Amino acid sequence: MRNVVDGLIGEVFARCRENRTGELADYIPELAAVAPDSFSLCIATSDGYVYESGDAHTEFTIQSISKPLTYGLALADRGLSAVAEKIDVEPSGEPFNEISLDPVTERPRNPMINAGAIAAASLIDGDDAEHRFERLRRCYSRYAGRELALNEAVYRSEARTGHRNRAIGHMLRSFGIIADDPDAAVDLYFRQCSIDVTCRDLALMGATLANNGVNPVTHERALAPDLVERVLSVMTTCGMYDAAGDWVTQVGLPAKSGVGGGVLAVLPGQIGIAVYSPRLDAHGNSVRGVQACRELSKELELHFL
Ligand code: DON
Repeated sequence: MRNVVDGLIGEVFARCRENRTGELADYIPELAAVAPDSFSLCIATSDGYVYESGDAHTEFTIQSISKPLTYGLALADRGLSAVAEKIDVEPSGEPFNEISLDPVTERPRNPMINAGAIAAASLIDGDDAEHRFERLRRCYSRYAGRELALNEAVYRSEARTGHRNRAIGHMLRSFGIIADDPDAAVDLYFRQCSIDVTCRDLALMGATLANNGVNPVTHERALAPDLVERVLSVMTTCGMYDAAGDWVTQVGLPAKSGVGGGVLAVLPGQIGIAVYSPRLDAHGNSVRGVQACRELSKELELHFL
């Protein structure tokens, strides 16, 4: 079986590598400094076997793939209903950085768009900013099964240019979604986005979610099973932003993308799939990431709906 899957991953990898369309994110200057054609595809099984191809150990920033992880920690810290009072679970159909709240509920529509993600960051427990970040970093590290670190250059680049996210933070403060300093929540969000991961790390994060919240290599728990269910549900409906409908029909897996070029998809109970390729489409999703997941889902019949 392993040889068959290895062969298939190799074929999908070779086909997708030919695709050089899409552009690097450059609205955060440091993101434009990566090798544009770097490419990796990894699959980790829920019993801890990892298939790797391409640049599986190249580091890149996690960006928005941090959002489901922070949402999970906020749920663990505050409980499902306290978080639901602040962040809804409806797909927005809007770009990830839209400055908007649901006009009826006056809450961010979901935790995968920036408004909901910044609200989730504001709900992370901790004594001070350092402690809150350290709790997030350790939580992400449990998913990956190794100690992850902040990419200072990307963090500084985003902090220098992230005026739209600051606007979102202050909007959340004015509507009472954030109770205290919105700049502290936005700064924590910038830092969570700037944590370095590899494609292998992302695959293991996916396998941890597939394995009901337990990292299949270290056997450490990253998230409680009832919260895994909530996180995967929101990834299914909202993880690929305004391309979520296309994604669910064509790939049919809970997923999350990041402007750093990562895509993470999960087949519950089975595998985590990760792709790294930094050329993005108009929605901010990795072009090869979407193509590789679409092809793998078709070939391996992973569409879970
Ligand atoms: O909010 C931002 O601008 C980024 N740090 C994260 C955005 C992101 O990854 C959107 N995803 N495709």
